[in-house]
Amino acid sequence: MKKPWGGRFKQSTNTLMERFSASISFDRRLYVYDIEGSIAHCRMLAKCKIISQTDAKKIVAGLQRVLKEFESGKFECDDRLEDIHMNVESRMIQLVGPVGGKLHTARSRNDQVCLDVRLYLREETGQIVQSLTQLTKTLLQLARKNIDHIVPGYTHLQQAQPILLAHHLLAHLEMLLRDRERMEDAWKRINVMPLGSAALAGTGFPIDRKYTAKLLGFPEVSHNSIDSVSDRDFAAEFCAAAAILMMHLSRFCEEVVLWSSSEFDWLELSDAYTTGSSIMPQKKNPDAAELIRGKSGRVYGNLVSLLTLMKSLPLAYNKDLQEDKEPLFDTVDTVKLSLEVFNGMMKTARFKKLPPSRLDISGFITATDMADYLAVQGVPFREAHEITGRTVAYCIKKGKGLQDITLKELKKISSRFDTDVFDHIILENSVQRKNVHGGTAKKQVLAQIRRLEKKLKTRSPILRVRK
Ligand code: ARG
Repeated sequence: MKKPWGGRFKQSTNTLMERFSASISFDRRLYVYDIEGSIAHCRMLAKCKIISQTDAKKIVAGLQRVLKEFESGKFECDDRLEDIHMNVESRMIQLVGPVGGKLHTARSRNDQVCLDVRLYLREETGQIVQSLTQLTKTLLQLARKNIDHIVPGYTHLQQAQPILLAHHLLAHLEMLLRDRERMEDAWKRINVMPLGSAALAGTGFPIDRKYTAKLLGFPEVSHNSIDSVSDRDFAAEFCAAAAILMMHLSRFCEEVVLWSSSEFDWLELSDAYTTGSSIMPQKKNPDAAELIRGKSGRVYGNLVSLLTLMKSLPLAYNKDLQEDKEPLFDTVDTVKLSLEVFNGMMKTARFKKLPPSRLDISGFITATDMADYLAVQGVPFREAHEITGRTVAYCIKKGKGLQDITLKELKKISSRFDTDVFDHIILENSVQRKNVHGGTAKKQVLAQIRRLEKKLKTRSPILRVRK
């Protein structure tokens, strides 16, 4: 087969080399963007009188036919044509004749591939932002529904202090909202139009880059032709945001796994998002959460692949850059799927209310409140901590919890204790006293729920301008 670049070659390409250098098996998915970009480029060429309107019409019609062939599953990709760009162009030329060869005027695959990836990633990032919004809404509903539900808060996976479950859920929500912001931020730098950079130097044709940008809904054109064909930092930035997002999901998933275990037993996942065991009939496994936790690994890996791919690469285009696509595509697919599954899993999950005995397994979850009580009486906090520590040690010796000890016993440890200490260490009171902005008191958590509900009502700025 004659290659579109075959003029200076005498021998044909080795077939293994053909297979090796081809990217069509994976960049095929860019066909919509490749065609959309080509149509815009063609219209711009005609507007600038670089090609005639008649030729442009033929080319656009040809491209639209190619699009239909893709959409009906009739398009046959050919490895020998390397990539999506040459596959689309060759077929269009086959359909419209040699005039189709005018499309590639003032353009190179180097700026074309960049455009395709930017169009693709702009769309996908928008979808991820939408999924994240959905998920945060689910979490907000869960928080509202479980607003009176007290659970142990942990540090070092040891019971630390009682908190509202809603407060804990909102902690995850805050992280996910920052992920959404990171995605929106990446979107801004994705949303730049590189076409017109050509191979690396720009072009001698009197093109109108801003017009192409307008047709494709880009607010900005790139400002340096070498930069625009060399860099993939917009993709790396997206992958970094995705890696952080998956890290957050993995932490949440880890907790879902723990909470749904018989040891914790405060979350019941729906049958729809769990699986059974082929040998142990009693099992109901939290596979969805485990898989998302596991998939965070490949998303980190994709980021590292991309960074390593770019490391030390001389400017401008190098074929190495073709290797950017698989990690990027895999990141997009994994993040989208994980978000959707996670949302479904949480939407159908049910939290069980814990009795106080289950909530305070150690018996000491309100020890900090006891120390606070003494500090309120004027005992310096360090001393209050010391006294409470001795109280805990005493209880451990006697096999009691803080609630079970008598005032007489307490008085022996410190005269500063009085009968109202018991009120201070009631779980509900402990929670309600954390009435500081961002604290776990119901009043504060409700205020945060209201703030977040309002925030989620405003549409993401990137969705407003999305094409
Ligand atoms: N398939 C190539 C890629 O993904 C397109 C650009 C090819 N450019 C070139 N000069 N060989 O990077």
